[in-house]
Amino acid sequence: MPTLHTEISGLKFRPPLILASGVMGQTAGSMRKMVENGMGGIVTKSIGLEARKGHPNPSVVEMDTGLLNAMGLPNPGIDEFGKEMDGLDLDVPVIGSVYGSTADDFVLLSEKMQGYGADAVELNLSCPHAEGYGASIGSDIDLVGKIVENVVDSVDIPVFPKIPPTSDTVGLASQIEESGADAIVAVNTVKAMAINYETAHPILGNVYGGYSGPGIKPIGLRCVYEIYGCVDIPIIGCGGITNGRDALEYIMAGSTSLEIGSSIYYRGLDAADKIHAEMNDLVSKEGFSSIDEMIGAAHR
Ligand SMILES: Cc1cc2nc3c(=O)[nH]c(=O)nc-3n(C[C@H](O)[C@H](O)[C@H](O)COP(=O)(O)O)c2cc1C
Repeated sequence: MPTLHTEISGLKFRPPLILASGVMGQTAGSMRKMVENGMGGIVTKSIGLEARKGHPNPSVVEMDTGLLNAMGLPNPGIDEFGKEMDGLDLDVPVIGSVYGSTADDFVLLSEKMQGYGADAVELNLSCPHAEGYGASIGSDIDLVGKIVENVVDSVDIPVFPKIPPTSDTVGLASQIEESGADAIVAVNTVKAMAINYETAHPILGNVYGGYSGPGIKPIGLRCVYEIYGCVDIPIIGCGGITNGRDALEYIMAGSTSLEIGSSIYYRGLDAADKIHAEMNDLVSKEGFSSIDEMIGAAHR
């Protein structure tokens, strides 16, 4: 089977399936396991300046068409995480995900990730369930511009801001491109909640969480499609990609590469291998010879 591949800022993704942040990207061992199981790139868990415990349980609920999580960005803090990155010798690009509340936080964290050998940095401007971080930052276009500009000026590695599934993708994506980012990751989870009918209480310890998996695919597709129409930098599509057909729909909407997270829950640890095989079958059936030919096909 030929390996489908794409390239963003000189980073080669073979195949163009990248582990999404927060799912199996916490330790060197789990990241290695994901590469052994077919991932063409890895995004680490989002890491902040200090250690953070995250939200109280229950923090993950299975829904009819997806997962609802309110992990609350648990992580060991950037200095401790350096130990996981130390000696992490993977033959695929490793993208360090960081979150903060100010431009200075993002600069410091990105510089540290670069120092640890990350091939690119992903800026979490989009987690919907950690107050003061993530989507609270991503909803302020001026702040997003400042953060992206400052990080781009401070590191030599590519910078990939990750956005929430906002209604104004065009305004946000245009600002991100203007600020010098190398690619846009779209999207993070959708803010949502679940209620236990019997007890009449919210199920998640944090009440609100982020919805992921098959149910959010149409939302992610819509965001990628809109962004492709307004910027020239590459898009990394994410949200509900569970099989080869989903992956190619995201490519047709305008993605150059893809991130997958919840599919590991639905398809197993070798989700990337399975999705890649399905993509290959479909690509050859349609008579295409590469992914590049298919990018943005839904716009033509
Ligand atoms: C348990 C869990 C933890 C997550 N943690 C993070 C995180 O730390 N940082 C981040 O940017 N996104 C995080 N996400 C969001 C995913 O990276 C991804 O954007 C989202 O789940 C949509 O993709 P999917 O439908 O393929 O899972 C998390 C998702 C899940 C399910």
